[in-house]
Amino acid sequence: MAPGLQSFALYSGLAMARGQGSRLFDEDGNSYVDFIAGIAVGSVGHCHPHYVARLKEQAEKLTFGSFTTEVRAKFLELLAGVTPPGLTRIQLFSGGSEAVEAAFRLAKSATKKFEFVGYTGAFHGKTGGVLPLLWGDFKNGLGPFAPGCYSAPYAYCYRCPLSLTYPDCGIACAEKTRDVIRDQTSGAIAAVIVEPIQGTAGNVIPPPGFLSAIRDIAREQGALFIADEMITGFGRTGRMWGIDHDGVVPDIMTLGKGVGGGFPLSAVASTDELTKKPPFSNPSGSSSSYGGNPLAAAAGLASLEIITRENLVENSERVGRAMLARLLQMQERHRVIGDVRGKGLLLGLELVEDRETKKLVSKEKTKSLFQECLRRGLVAMSYTPIIRINPPLNIDEATALEGLEILDEAIGAVFP
Ligand SMILES: Cc1ncc(COP(=O)(O)O)c(C=O)c1O
Repeated sequence: MAPGLQSFALYSGLAMARGQGSRLFDEDGNSYVDFIAGIAVGSVGHCHPHYVARLKEQAEKLTFGSFTTEVRAKFLELLAGVTPPGLTRIQLFSGGSEAVEAAFRLAKSATKKFEFVGYTGAFHGKTGGVLPLLWGDFKNGLGPFAPGCYSAPYAYCYRCPLSLTYPDCGIACAEKTRDVIRDQTSGAIAAVIVEPIQGTAGNVIPPPGFLSAIRDIAREQGALFIADEMITGFGRTGRMWGIDHDGVVPDIMTLGKGVGGGFPLSAVASTDELTKKPPFSNPSGSSSSYGGNPLAAAAGLASLEIITRENLVENSERVGRAMLARLLQMQERHRVIGDVRGKGLLLGLELVEDRETKKLVSKEKTKSLFQECLRRGLVAMSYTPIIRINPPLNIDEATALEGLEILDEAIGAVFP
């Protein structure tokens, strides 16, 4: 492998042998509770029997090509049954960035405009079309970026960009989207794109009303509203979609990660009206080599069947609530925990040197924390001061609390 592997895999130095449910087993026979799930990819856990059976069955029948297949039809029928009203026209892809870039092409096709507004802290992938909207040092050294992309402040209440406090702030940060559009763009906004909860930034949850406010601003500008549900979709936040928390229906939704339960599968969902606009709608205009291939469709079908049959959206809400309560208890005992937040099984905490200044602890310290977690049997994204927790959606409460017990002990060991 070339350098640049995902940090948790790299820092762990582990070779994994197998996985079962919410546990991983390394080649030395050690077991770990999995709080990462491939960064919210493994919605149905490791090697769910129904998932394995569906993939095996499909591997023996047909594995590639874009022809209509029964398995793809079944998958799309189930998927269109859970997407928000009207968003039932779906194109399939393999990766998240690819789907977001396709959503941009769709927005350009539908509006004949070409500018995009995203948010501070955003992550929509690392490919050329979305790179300008990416926040933080990921993009250092990769300029110049494609023109026409702008960022407005996200509602990051723990570190409010306007130094205000919710609810007295009246969600003033949302208004800044209007300012960015007025002051920085040429007025040709194809779409406003937002993560309903920001994953990479640290599972940052905006207050109620933020998403609907920016949706209204997008509408007012004649721009489309894209919800990037890559991480937040399929029950991750305790509702089917992240936008459900604010009762918002986007014009375009991008999906990935949990939809394939580990198989590279992503999608763009939109309306009949928008998707019929060329060049997106031209033959081969929105397709890709792997989009909707029969194996990916089998993985998507199996994952959705498991998510619905096993009530994993409800499980996410229930177990997530128990985890949040336990994390809040931990915050009372460990002064280093500055903030705790969570919706469903998308939880986050910030480790700070001082609760007043909110200065984050050093990466050296958190790398030790990561090792202390591993030694005790937990893989978690605890190698950075803003810790993200996103286990499989079918984790049971006992295993979830076992993982938090380990995190609690490890925090105590590194930050006595
Ligand atoms: C919200 C969001 N969009 C897009 C992506 C990009 O997905 P991929 O890594 O599959 O390209 C990610 C990946 O973490 C993401 O979190």
